[in-house]
Amino acid sequence: MDIVVERRGAIEALGFHRPARRNAITRDMYAALAERITAAEADESVRVILFHGLPDVFTSGNDIEDFMQHAPTGLDAPVFRFLTAVSEAKKPLVAAVTGPAVGIGTTLLLHCEMVFAGDNARFAMPFTQLGLVPEFASSYLLPLVAGYQRAAELLLLGETFDAAKAYEAGFVTRVVPAAEALEAAWQAATRIAALPPKSILLTKSLLKASRRDIVRSTLGAEAEHFHAMLAEPAARAALAAFLARRKA
Ligand code: COA
Repeated sequence: MDIVVERRGAIEALGFHRPARRNAITRDMYAALAERITAAEADESVRVILFHGLPDVFTSGNDIEDFMQHAPTGLDAPVFRFLTAVSEAKKPLVAAVTGPAVGIGTTLLLHCEMVFAGDNARFAMPFTQLGLVPEFASSYLLPLVAGYQRAAELLLLGETFDAAKAYEAGFVTRVVPAAEALEAAWQAATRIAALPPKSILLTKSLLKASRRDIVRSTLGAEAEHFHAMLAEPAARAALAAFLARRKA
């Protein structure tokens, strides 16, 4: 299974686990994640959801091959079910990031309440380099958290940046030695889970209230452009070039 699920008390941890493809996310993985998040949201005994990867990779983002063969179309596509489940989650989301977090691996973090980055974490939103546009409401959420120019640099250039820069950009809560990132996330999740659940749910709801509608509309607008851009020569060439350099 490419997703590992671990339950400790009131915390449900969802881990990317597809080492041969650097945890690239397929449609099946998006579908499984969306299902788990929806189930965790409905299960009163779950109070916090924790995302993590492997010690040397969080995720390399969309599986490019899967994605080219089955480009997402309607809002019912697994990737959209995942984007909706995460962006509409009522329960707190905590993440531990070690190694590369590419594309959706970085934009997912903009929806989390707390993000613990190992000092080996590397972030990138290479959408323009792939001839695409930002997704997961990052074109709205990144300027909100990082400030306009910092967000513009990261989204226009699409270059890789380290944990210190992600911390400066404001979407990483704390940078810790790589070997401590997962434990730091578990500890934060445990502290949240120990607090009165109704108070936690209401606090998250209040924190998100002013952005909820804009996140929804941005997700839709980005998806339309993303879909259209996939058919453009620049995106086709960039994605094909990535696949062509494969060893296997
Ligand atoms: N989709 C499909 N396959 C992927 C992948 C992805 N997003 N990311 C990595 N892989 C595959 C590689 O093709 C390679 O396959 P191979 O062993 O058959 O050659 C294998 O996983 C290992 O990847 P590799 O690039 O050799 O690992 P690395 O440690 O040198 O680099 C990354 C790791 C994540 C920095 C690099 O793989 C990368 O940039 N991936 C693409 C990220 C991307 O553009 N994502 C889409 C964003 S929308």
